[in-house]
Amino acid sequence: MCPPEHFTVEYAINPWMNTEFAVDAALAVQQWEALRATLTDLGHEVHVLDPRPGLPDMVYSANGAFSVDGTVYGARFRFPQRADEAVAHRAFYADAGRWRFVAPEHVNEGEGDFAYLPGAYGGIVLAGYGFRTDPAAHAEAQEVLGRPVVSLKLVDPAFYHLDTALAALDDRHVTYYPDAFSPASQRVLAQLFPDALLADREDAEAFGLNLVSDGRHVILNTEASAMGRKVRDAGYLPVHVNLSELKRGGGSVKCAVAELRP
Ligand code: ARG
Repeated sequence: MCPPEHFTVEYAINPWMNTEFAVDAALAVQQWEALRATLTDLGHEVHVLDPRPGLPDMVYSANGAFSVDGTVYGARFRFPQRADEAVAHRAFYADAGRWRFVAPEHVNEGEGDFAYLPGAYGGIVLAGYGFRTDPAAHAEAQEVLGRPVVSLKLVDPAFYHLDTALAALDDRHVTYYPDAFSPASQRVLAQLFPDALLADREDAEAFGLNLVSDGRHVILNTEASAMGRKVRDAGYLPVHVNLSELKRGGGSVKCAVAELRP
């Protein structure tokens, strides 16, 4: 995670961002601290990246890389404003020492567009394209990670990253908002995950799919109360965190957390 100390909305690269509306960085930091405390209270270890001035989106640390079983497939951002974030993430993995880091050739925004399901089909990667990640990066990720990568086409600009439209609830179950995907990709998802928890547009707009789950607790945005009920009915424990400021940059819980899979 990376604290939103330098969080601003000074450019608009997704439909949620409005540069005319000032964000409250102090409130963003407070809300971020609550998210971090929630994760540590649940027993998770959280590493913190130093925020850098001039990188206002650095709080969305999910976009900086994608790791599976000790291998890290590095990010390469679509927009120049975020390019340097990839450098900070790369340095984190290098300092930690125990990772095999592979620098990407193709544009990809890390866990923003990649999800890993270790218990589905022996371990598969779901990958989004259409707005940020280049589909060529999906093939590259498959070669780097040695896991099947299933390409899914995102079609709604409001849900420009895979993690705004789909989430892993545990090692093999997913939840998603079907209309964020092309009709063919919806069929692919229905074939692979016939028992998926389906979300609706309201859930997606409340960033209810931008969740982090440890397989039991599902951490999601406060606004996503209906999604919280769906998750509870499916047997998980919803834990709500208010991330209203981060929504102004077009992200929520999942965007703020890069999961480490050593
Ligand atoms: N302002 C950021 C961008 O548009 C938000 C990134 C959200 N992150 C995510 N994992 N969906 O790039």
